[in-house]
Amino acid sequence: MPDLRTVLVEELHDLLSAETQIVVALPKMVKAAQATNLKDAFETHLEQTKNHVERIKQALQALGETANSKVCKGMKGILDEGKEAIKRTKQFDEFAADITLIAAAHKVEHYEIGAYSTAKTIAARLDEIKVGTLLSETLDEEKAADTMLTTISRPLLKQATVEEVAEPSELLTDEIAAPKTFAAAAGQSPKSSALQAHSSGATQPSGTNGPPASSRSDSTKPAPPAKPSNSALKNLDG
Ligand SMILES: [Fe+2]
Repeated sequence: MPDLRTVLVEELHDLLSAETQIVVALPKMVKAAQATNLKDAFETHLEQTKNHVERIKQALQALGETANSKVCKGMKGILDEGKEAIKRTKQFDEFAADITLIAAAHKVEHYEIGAYSTAKTIAARLDEIKVGTLLSETLDEEKAADTMLTTISRPLLKQATVEEVAEPSELLTDEIAAPKTFAAAAGQSPKSSALQAHSSGATQPSGTNGPPASSRSDSTKPAPPAKPSNSALKNLDG
């Protein structure tokens, strides 16, 4: 019966295929990236990824195993989506285009972080110290790459074009648009008030008076459920 060691070997085979596919995909990301620091980050990670391939081969060797040709379908799917993302970047400004690439790269990193974390834990359980050390080194680099992507994305998000949205009354229901009235009284822009109310999850029941829940001093407390009126109860009674 296959045991935990077999699971580790299968995970390593899966990761070997994933890393090999990433080595092929990353040069396209380098070419598509527009911000210099993003291009550099992809180039650096390409060199790291070549090393990740070698570490997995060393881990398999330490276990007395050889590489196989099984394809990691999970990574193939993520990278297929990445190819589509690269095509989509042509319709965006340079900042949104780079954000699209970062989104695709984050998905790759998170797959790897999950897979390496599991494999490292199994290696530790099996007392495979050398394998665990190799996996741990790569896991640290994947996490650092993921953090780097987030750092690079922040200024790009600020610079990307954000189109003005339509007035809330055109988009929102009466219930959500209701804070517009209260915002005007408070000297706020209706749009920002409605969006704040929307993002905080607060909505103003139609037909009620008073400020929106988001501006009340007790806004952190959940509003009690509305009681049905007497006439509504009568209707229910038939
Ligand atoms: Fe990697």
